[in-house]
Amino acid sequence: VNLKPLNTFGLEAIAKYYVRPSSLDQLQQAYEFAKEHGLACLVLGGGSNILFKQDHYSGLVIHLDIQGIHVEETNDQFYVVVGASENWHELTQFCVNKGIIGLENLSLIPGSVGACPVQNIGAYGVEVAEFISTVLCYDPTEGQVVELTAEQCAFGYRDSVFKRDKAHWVILEVRFVFSKSRKLSLEYGDIANRVDAKIQDDPRLALSPRLISEVICEIRSEKLPDPSITGNAGSFFKNPIVDASVFEVLKAKYPQLVAHPYGSQYKLAAGWLIDFLGFKGKTVGGAGVHKLQALVLVNNSGHATSKELFDLVGMIRQEVKSNFGIDLEIEPRVI
Ligand code: EPU
Repeated sequence: VNLKPLNTFGLEAIAKYYVRPSSLDQLQQAYEFAKEHGLACLVLGGGSNILFKQDHYSGLVIHLDIQGIHVEETNDQFYVVVGASENWHELTQFCVNKGIIGLENLSLIPGSVGACPVQNIGAYGVEVAEFISTVLCYDPTEGQVVELTAEQCAFGYRDSVFKRDKAHWVILEVRFVFSKSRKLSLEYGDIANRVDAKIQDDPRLALSPRLISEVICEIRSEKLPDPSITGNAGSFFKNPIVDASVFEVLKAKYPQLVAHPYGSQYKLAAGWLIDFLGFKGKTVGGAGVHKLQALVLVNNSGHATSKELFDLVGMIRQEVKSNFGIDLEIEPRVI
């Protein structure tokens, strides 16, 4: 099977074996097959956070298809239980339509619901970890279904247990909890200004999760390439977290440096570091740095090879290292 349409960056790769299980039974059979034939397995969701470094995958690609959204309500909370293969943005819109507050700032993030806990998706001041109650997984080594609490998921910035020791677990379902007393998050960037401007333009509008979602969609569409048009995998690098002493030295040398306090440390805007070094719009063959957001690498031609992409990555990492002393970490999963 050709994996190019199954990864949003659009890298060429052929999988020797491919299966699309839509139930736990079928998933278990897939693992049985892999075991019998001594194959490695790769679980694929929406393909928006994965990069294929090689042009073939000799194991079994498991392209999950587990659907379903179910809502329960108590006096002060909503519980929303969602199949791993549901589309993330559609879930945000489902919640917006029901007046459930929480996911609106995470509108328009590509990918599937099952991928959201893996990298703890976050945007515009909100991280999904705030709403995850439990995650239902299949453990292929034990052949068992297990439920992890949010605490066991060990969420961090673009990080969770699924990126580390439980990397082989298959996420089947995510159970979200939303407090009915939650307030909308308007603090990041110019969200509040944009919301005010919209209400001034049309006084019939009221502050609501739908209005925030619309504003977020606008902000993202202005700056971020649509993966259905230009291949990309969202932010390509994590924003580096550094000690205050490192931040202060850098800030003294580069007064325009963009950073935000992160506990007792600082989170640097990697987009600024890359932009400052003049990389916006730079290309290596078909791969390039996005013209409007330097943290996003793009498949300009639609035919970028992984060699071109990783040559570009190497250049960026080297320049950032030699100018700022910072090691940029790739955010998507590299296979
Ligand atoms: N900046 C530049 N030049 C650039 C890009 C950014 O100077 O080319 C500076 C600007 O000052 C800007 C600041 O960096 O204000 C931050 O940029 P932005 O608000 O676009 O956010 P980001 O830090 O680059 C992170 C997430 C995004 C998320 C946005 C908004 C990571 C790795 N990325 O990007 O998440 O949408 O914040 O919250 O944390 C993703 O993970 O795939 C993703 C898109």
